[in-house]
Amino acid sequence: MLLGVNIDHVATLRQARYAAMPDAPQAEPSPLAAARAALEGGADSITLHVREDRRHMQDADARAVRREIPLPLNLEMGATPAMLDFALALRPDYICLVPERRQEITTEGGLDAAGRAAELAPMVAALQANGSRVSLFIDPETAQVEAARALGAPMIELHTGRFANSSGAARAAETRRLAAAAELGHALGLEVHAGHGIQLSNLRELSAVPHLSELNIGHTIIARAVFIGLAAAVREMKEAIARLSW
Ligand code: PXP
Repeated sequence: MLLGVNIDHVATLRQARYAAMPDAPQAEPSPLAAARAALEGGADSITLHVREDRRHMQDADARAVRREIPLPLNLEMGATPAMLDFALALRPDYICLVPERRQEITTEGGLDAAGRAAELAPMVAALQANGSRVSLFIDPETAQVEAARALGAPMIELHTGRFANSSGAARAAETRRLAAAAELGHALGLEVHAGHGIQLSNLRELSAVPHLSELNIGHTIIARAVFIGLAAAVREMKEAIARLSW
């Protein structure tokens, strides 16, 4: 099981004070330094989301991490023409296409791969031809998994937000939905990842979902890093993941 560490919230903190001058020498904390710490803690890849409104990660952050950090870079992005141009120039190892609404606090709901197939197909093809492996961030639904396969994306990332924010019978039902989507994705030849709201406290239940090969985790690692440091927080998560059988 691989761990992709999402460092967006390091940039969120910097922007809270230095939004008007993110490149100034005194602007801190540095997402690039965070990527180095994540590498030290055992991250298998670095994930960052350059949002259309540039609320946290800036273009220069993505370029710096791409240039300096010897780990695969996973760029999350909305499926827009402007972001496509940016991604073609950056050429990250992986690209995760996500839905994006300006008002949302974080990515809410999966990409409608089925409903937006005509628009997404050329984008997936262009990114893949440019050397970036594409993943689609989708809800655990049959139609979405099948659409991802039809679009030619080699990977899907199942949205675990509903799983993370539910409990009891609803959590159990959502775990079954994730498992069914993962089974289908695997049967269709897709690499299956999961992300959103994953924490130390819900890892064990998530480990009931078969065929997952990568988890993308951000918020909880950065939150924990406030108290124990980022490398240690990444290491703690890696060790917790390794203790479970996936
Ligand atoms: N995967 C995707 C596609 C996301 O958009 C996010 C949130 O930015 C994550 C994973 C990480 O979620 P969290 O910050 O809740 O761990």
